[in-house]
Amino acid sequence: MIPPKILFDCDTGIDDAMMLLYLAAEVRAGDAELVGVGTVHGNVDSLAGALNTLRVLELAGLDDVPVAVGAGRPMAQAVHYAVDWHGTNGLADLDLPAPQGAPTGESAAAQLVRLARAHPGELTIVATGPLTNLGAALLLDAELPSLVREVVVMGGAFGHPGNITTHAEANIWHDPEAADLVFAADWPVVLVPLDATHSTAVGAEWLARLADHDRPVARFASQIMEWYADAYTPTLRRRGAVVHDALAAMLALDPGLGEYVERPVRVELRGELTRGATVWDARSLPASETRRPVRVAVGSDVAAFQDRLLAAVLSF
Ligand code: RIB
Ligand code: CA
Repeated sequence: MIPPKILFDCDTGIDDAMMLLYLAAEVRAGDAELVGVGTVHGNVDSLAGALNTLRVLELAGLDDVPVAVGAGRPMAQAVHYAVDWHGTNGLADLDLPAPQGAPTGESAAAQLVRLARAHPGELTIVATGPLTNLGAALLLDAELPSLVREVVVMGGAFGHPGNITTHAEANIWHDPEAADLVFAADWPVVLVPLDATHSTAVGAEWLARLADHDRPVARFASQIMEWYADAYTPTLRRRGAVVHDALAAMLALDPGLGEYVERPVRVELRGELTRGATVWDARSLPASETRRPVRVAVGSDVAAFQDRLLAAVLSF
């Protein structure tokens, strides 16, 4: 089987970093090809996210993957950084050396369009930050949806409370207009919302198994996950954390791990209390009267996810 070509778009914070380590292990095993990374505002600014991405890729031995800095702000609102959950530098405020490499001079949106045209019908875009770069790429190239194999997005909340407002999940809330462009486009989208990610929260025992290894990657992962657990524990009411982005990557590579419903999805753009909320349409309307359905993950094999993530991080 030819390994899927992945383009990752992220706001490298802690769970993005864990997702990168998971993906790097899959690349080393020959089960995926990482053709590029784009970064976007969100957990941190897009340049800091790019430098963090380079640090993690170099730690994982993937120092030949192009990393492009993307949008530094949303399309139609002020920028906001989630430093409370990821630290001011996006990686648990660890004092990390500068990466050896540097971002390319290309913008993330331009890189996305170029790689989609270079690999027509082969690219799987995995987006684990706000969707500004994907929205911009759709505006840059109207043919983009027909060139991309699949788009897997971590974001949204349907039967689950929001995590940045009462109803909105952070990645969607950070740029609702861009997200709505992504869900309105005619390409295959898999959406991995809080409804699927929250039940995969790792706990104290998982963290302890990770902390029990002293190799550089495991030590780094343990440091950022302990910091993340400190931030998450009050919400979970038990020691632990939700590695949202790693689940999106795992479902991109092994869809059989998930449970899905097919629903057209829209984003609330005008609600005073609900802006950024994702709304699905559970009616059975004729295709001509609605958007292309999105494949929404509503559950996953939690034990398999947690075991595979730990095994991936400990494989370095
Ligand atoms: O709501 C969780 C998402 O927001 C994750 O992607 C996390 O990294 C933050 O970007
Ligand atoms: Ca993220």
